[in-house]
Amino acid sequence: MTVRRSVVVGCGGYLPEKVLTNDELAQRLDTSDEWIRDRSGITQRYIAAEGEMTSDLGTAAARDALSAAGFTAADIGLIVVATSTPDETFPATATVVQAKLGADKAMAFDVQAVCSGFVYALATADNFIKSGQVDSALVIGAETFSRILDWQDRGTCVLFGDGAGALVLKAESGAGTTADRGVLSTHLHSDGRLHDLLYVDGGPSSTGEVGFLRMEGKEVFRHAVVKMAEVTVEALEANDLSASDIDWFVPHQANKRIIDGTAKKLGISGDKVVVTIESHANTSAASIPLALWVATQDQRIKRDDLVLIEALGGGMTWGSGLVRW
Ligand code: UT7
Repeated sequence: MTVRRSVVVGCGGYLPEKVLTNDELAQRLDTSDEWIRDRSGITQRYIAAEGEMTSDLGTAAARDALSAAGFTAADIGLIVVATSTPDETFPATATVVQAKLGADKAMAFDVQAVCSGFVYALATADNFIKSGQVDSALVIGAETFSRILDWQDRGTCVLFGDGAGALVLKAESGAGTTADRGVLSTHLHSDGRLHDLLYVDGGPSSTGEVGFLRMEGKEVFRHAVVKMAEVTVEALEANDLSASDIDWFVPHQANKRIIDGTAKKLGISGDKVVVTIESHANTSAASIPLALWVATQDQRIKRDDLVLIEALGGGMTWGSGLVRW
């Protein structure tokens, strides 16, 4: 049986120039490098420059991914940007990226699932490819979370950063087995009743202002460990695979303790886990594609490797995906 698969043919990333260290934060807030490192694993984060927008970050990552794929922007049929920090309320940041790239043949829209956004965007693009509606897609996670942080709230502002990552997907035919290259499956969930644990206290239809991120950290942590382990097991079972088949585990980068806890629960050894939180912090929808970018750049993730991704974010939303690189 021949099936259409969405194969990753290029991976790119972009981080803003400015680095903000824990020590710098400790000079203006009642916090310390030691607290931030111990509780989250973060030592620094990147911050977008004044005037540098989510679309700029996303466009840079997309250009990098296109170049890695040997594609031009005109080859792309679909652009999906996962972001919770769009340039404007509308239009979609994806259309701004489209114009900046000159991807004239593409349709473009945003996906909003906060930190799970990249998994949702990948699932969306994969379904467009599998249905035959497009033959190629750019899937981008891009965020300027620094713009929605309350810089007086030490419980949240120390945890997040800015950045963007991107994948180019191309339709190829596979045999319909887990030996195929490409997206093997995605698994998405949400529970809107958990809104109050992680949200932004503003928006066009409520306050008319952008608002700031609010989080019940401990509660989010509790849900993260349980739900991310569940959704990764769901991905493995759906494909009749076990944790020992995974070459690389690339989780959302929210907290080193959550990453370690989930990997341990799954029985995945530390040397198979891609961790970028120490230098990137939590870049929400950008964290997984940035981690994929780092691990392809340093040659850890190679062609035919089996990669497991998973994330949880505001909504709540959570999801996983299995990709044979
Ligand atoms: O990406 C979306 C998903 N997000 C997540 O998955 C984040 C999940 N949550 C977490 O990662 C952790 O809960 C945090 C890193 C946010 C916090 O770690 P925690 O171990 O849960 O700490 P806590 O919130 O219980 O705070 C412990 C103490 C508190 O003081 P008291 O009440 O015990 O006296 C806080 O006020 O640490 C205090 N605290 C800080 N101290 C120094 C909170 N933030 C800071 C800070 N510096 N930046």
